[in-house]
Amino acid sequence: MTKAAFRISAALALGLSAVAAYAEDQSVEMLHFWTSGGEAEGVRALQTALGAKGVAWKDAAVAGGTGANAYQVLRSRVASKTPPSGAQMHIQETLVWAREGLLRDLSDLAAKDGWRNSVLPSIQANYEVDGKWIAVPVTMHRSNWLWYNTALLKKVGAEPPKDWEEFNVIAEKLKAVGVTPLALGGQNWQYGDLLENIILAKGGPDFYRKVIAGDEETIKSETMISAFDQLAKLRGYVDAGSPGRDWNLATAMVINGEAAFQIMGDWAKAEFALAGKQPDVDYGCVAAPGTGGGFVWLVDNFAFFDTGNEASRSAQNTLAETVLDPKVQVDFAIKKGSIPVITDFDSSRLDTCGRRSFEDRTSAEDKNGVVPSIFHNAAMPGARTGVFLDVVSEFFVTTSMTSQDAVEALVEGLAQL
Ligand code: GAL
Repeated sequence: MTKAAFRISAALALGLSAVAAYAEDQSVEMLHFWTSGGEAEGVRALQTALGAKGVAWKDAAVAGGTGANAYQVLRSRVASKTPPSGAQMHIQETLVWAREGLLRDLSDLAAKDGWRNSVLPSIQANYEVDGKWIAVPVTMHRSNWLWYNTALLKKVGAEPPKDWEEFNVIAEKLKAVGVTPLALGGQNWQYGDLLENIILAKGGPDFYRKVIAGDEETIKSETMISAFDQLAKLRGYVDAGSPGRDWNLATAMVINGEAAFQIMGDWAKAEFALAGKQPDVDYGCVAAPGTGGGFVWLVDNFAFFDTGNEASRSAQNTLAETVLDPKVQVDFAIKKGSIPVITDFDSSRLDTCGRRSFEDRTSAEDKNGVVPSIFHNAAMPGARTGVFLDVVSEFFVTTSMTSQDAVEALVEGLAQL
């Protein structure tokens, strides 16, 4: 083979491997915690939409609600300099990585695609930090939902409860006929979800905001004590199998008629849908007791690690563009049980619960009733959330702990940070 021929074939081979490498890199390895049956349906919708654009979604799923396990895995991967291409995060976690300078700045993409015009104005400030877009918001969930089994409510002649007093009356009736009133997974964040909903119910949005600001007088108030009193009451409405149970198995209890109610974010709806259950027929979705008019939000976003490789950046960009595509926003929301994070989308495609969430968000915005979720890392930095998690989970399982003890433990824990 002549020198010239060799050089040409070598260049061709190199070119081909570069092309192969680029094609190979047209993938995004995504670390996330969407592992329940319903959540996996959501991931599949994203994989399909992304695949249609020639980019492969490489799955790096880590089980465990609210992502505590996934965040742990992420830390070790970053520490070993093998970060995934991207990860599902909540805003508070995203801010941690952004402050460490490890996330890609998505500002060019945001400018090119007009995110300032398309993304919900009320959440933009979370994602555009110091003039940089640190992540792409994907979907908005609401944590103040009550899910109920319609047949079991009929059994005791009850309507969905509007407040906790009504809930407690119905719960006693359900217990009297041998039905578990509340399906609950005994995990710290699930106890937390109950608490944040009760705080909003007992005190309202302004009170809730003072709690997350750590206002001592508010946390020590009679209202906060009555919130813990109501939480204590719920100890008597869950079954003995509750400790350690995953949230989706608690949802399954309501689906299967083993329990009447669940307080859980609308990711639960994806489980009802997967089981072929119809909203307002087999099950109902209403604002958690006493929180009508309020909207406790959390957003799942994707943040990207700078892998320093053009091909992978372009794949990350394609994913970011795909998730903000108005059709994909709705497709994903329908599967995931959430609502879009963009302003312009076809809300008529959402189901009853989805439209209710969207309408409730709109009316809550008008009344300043929208507040960030504490236990899904929307409201405060991790260390502060950790204090609330520790106190609420100790309180729920320790019957000798009084509501007074709980509020004092909160104040003490926050003071030590
Ligand atoms: C939330 C997350 C949701 C859902 C839920 C249960 O924190 O934002 O998308 O996954 O946990 O795991």
